[in-house]
Amino acid sequence: MERNQKEGRLSFTTDLPEAIASAEVIFIAVGTPPGEDGSADLKHVLKVAELVGRHMTREVVVVTKSTVPVGSAGKIGAAVAKGAKFQYHLCSNPEFLKEGDAVEDFMRPDRVVLGLASEYARKVMMEVYAPFVRTGKPVLIMDIPSAEMTKYAANGMLATRISFMNEIANLCDKLGANVDFVRRGIGSDARIGQSFLFPGPGYGGSCFPKDIKALVKMGAECGVALDVLGAVESANERQKRLLVKKIKCALGDRLKGRRVALWGLAFKAGTDDMREAPSLTLIDALLDEGASICAHDPAALEHARTLLGNRIDYAETNYEALPGADALVVVTDWNEYRHPDFERVKRTLKQPVIVDGRNLYDVEKMRELGVRYHSIGRPSA
Ligand SMILES: NC(=O)c1ccc[n+]([C@@H]2O[C@H](COP(=O)([O-])OP(=O)(O)OC[C@H]3O[C@@H](n4cnc5c(N)ncnc54)[C@H](O)[C@@H]3O)[C@@H](O)[C@H]2O)c1
Repeated sequence: MERNQKEGRLSFTTDLPEAIASAEVIFIAVGTPPGEDGSADLKHVLKVAELVGRHMTREVVVVTKSTVPVGSAGKIGAAVAKGAKFQYHLCSNPEFLKEGDAVEDFMRPDRVVLGLASEYARKVMMEVYAPFVRTGKPVLIMDIPSAEMTKYAANGMLATRISFMNEIANLCDKLGANVDFVRRGIGSDARIGQSFLFPGPGYGGSCFPKDIKALVKMGAECGVALDVLGAVESANERQKRLLVKKIKCALGDRLKGRRVALWGLAFKAGTDDMREAPSLTLIDALLDEGASICAHDPAALEHARTLLGNRIDYAETNYEALPGADALVVVTDWNEYRHPDFERVKRTLKQPVIVDGRNLYDVEKMRELGVRYHSIGRPSA
């Protein structure tokens, strides 16, 4: 960013007319948070679209990057049209980046989806994306509603895989199977593939929860049942409470007066984002039960302080969270947590109990170390 800024290719401003004065392409990427009824709230997108229309000074392509419900392009077009004195072309260009890998994913996308309605927009957008698809990754051109739908369908599928694997892992737990083997066993089937098959404490973040809600709402509005996605959502809510059960399994039902060391607050590694994070559900439940918590996160501590204040204690390093704790609970799969000094962990905890919400550690190794170890869908040690 610094290099591109210095070399004059990138600049930042909070002055919208200045930002769009010379732009040929304008990307709208503001938030689309869930409204009260679960549908995506378009107010920020429409406000920006209106301003774009009012301030544009030449023919432009207005690109929607924000995740918006199918059919939003009509509303966005109407908002631009209110003040537009020049021709404009709409494009739906949903974003598939993974939070925490945004730059890498943008530079090397698996595919680029472009929903278009004019040849002018097609030409301009192909030029914009040409440098990023030189390795032959496809640019998929389609109509605008299909592009809008593609984003929701992608997130719906990914969330479905997560909830599916979480339920399979829970069943493994009860029936004595090991989800690590099961995951590899199904993932090597080319029809299934390896990614997004890792069980965990439930999905969170700014996208899956809101996009699944919005998709279910879209179905309800047009009378189409989306039972699978409804179940994905409720399975996820249940999964977010799983770690409390696991902690009780390790420490007994009475958590009052117990202290828990928590590694990881962000909803996923590589980000400080705590929106809908499973850590928040866990923290609320533990505090309700009378436990105390000392938490560490490599990136989200500052954010956590604003959300949680002095309801919990914070540790600047992961080891500092451990003294006096009855159990270590791993919530986020940060690389920093993958290979800790286990002897030190054991020595510092009040008792050697680890509840691993991300299956980061080897069950056999934990057994050898004498750690009482509980993970998800695998035998306990
Ligand atoms: N975060 C992701 O990984 C991701 C991935 C794919 C798609 N998306 C979609 O991208 C959109 C943005 O997501 P996000 O996570 O970046 O949201 P965010 O809430 O982190 O960021 C949105 C930004 O828009 C700004 N904004 C709001 N109204 C504005 C206005 N009128 N003028 C100028 N700026 C304004 C906000 O200040 C904020 O900085 C959403 O629709 C989301 O679904 C996000």
